[in-house]
Amino acid sequence: MLAAIASALHVLGIALAATFGTLRLVALRRKDIPGTRLADNGNGIAAILLFGAGFWRLFAELEKPLGFYTANPIFWTKMGVVAVMVGLEMYPQYVVLPWHIRHSRKQPIEPKPGQFERMFKLCALQLPCILVLIVCAALMSRGVGLPTPAAPAAAAMTSRLPGASVYATYCQPCHQPDGRGLGGKAAGDFVGDPTILAKPDAELLDVIARGKTGRIGSMPGWGAALSPQQQRDVLAYLRATFGQSAAHASPAAR
Ligand code: HEC
Repeated sequence: MLAAIASALHVLGIALAATFGTLRLVALRRKDIPGTRLADNGNGIAAILLFGAGFWRLFAELEKPLGFYTANPIFWTKMGVVAVMVGLEMYPQYVVLPWHIRHSRKQPIEPKPGQFERMFKLCALQLPCILVLIVCAALMSRGVGLPTPAAPAAAAMTSRLPGASVYATYCQPCHQPDGRGLGGKAAGDFVGDPTILAKPDAELLDVIARGKTGRIGSMPGWGAALSPQQQRDVLAYLRATFGQSAAHASPAAR
């Protein structure tokens, strides 16, 4: 429910940003001071919605764990475009903020020559940025940019790896034969959450040896029960069976 609200506010923010961004351009072209101020206020509300709902979704992990986003190059493209937009907004704010202050003090507003033209150019550049943001968001919601999950049939191909019997004995009770950990409820879902196996060996070996307590629950450490070689074997088995390359590695997966 919270996730749906946050997502709706985020989308509303984008819609408002596009609307007021366009209205601001019209006002700037007409050198219309009240119109520019009004559109600027609208943009402020859009920015609060966009950033507020965006960071809320991201850091409260309402829908997906943070790693789901940070593992995705499209997410970083989005953040880069946001940074560009913030940069483009510097000059307009430098001009319009004093206007708001003068207006509230009932002082006259006297734009300097060239200010409207400069603001128009910078604000015009923001509109294609908004378009890129929308495209990125649409791509991400379709799962583009994340590693392809392995097909379950891949397990058959890797069952002769030395880590297979270790997995069956020590890991399978929680992580399940399909590696999905009962849909991520009982244990980490290696298939559904590709960010897990995107982590480097050292980090995963550390989790295997010392265990982990996280959002899903607690995993005991296996450092005492398994030799270092067995720990490496089982990690190799995880990567080969459930990792992003598994679907490509085995013809049986298709
Ligand atoms: C008692 C149940 C249980 C067993 C048995 C178990 N795990 Fe886990 N495992 C978990 C839980 C729960 C998590 C998720 C922890 C979290 O992030 O909340 C997890 C997460 C993981 C992760 C992801 C860590 C990360 O950084 O997100 C790896 C890798 C992993 N387990 C490997 C193994 C291996 C290898 C074995 C067998 C040697 C094993 N697990 C056995 C419960 C178990």
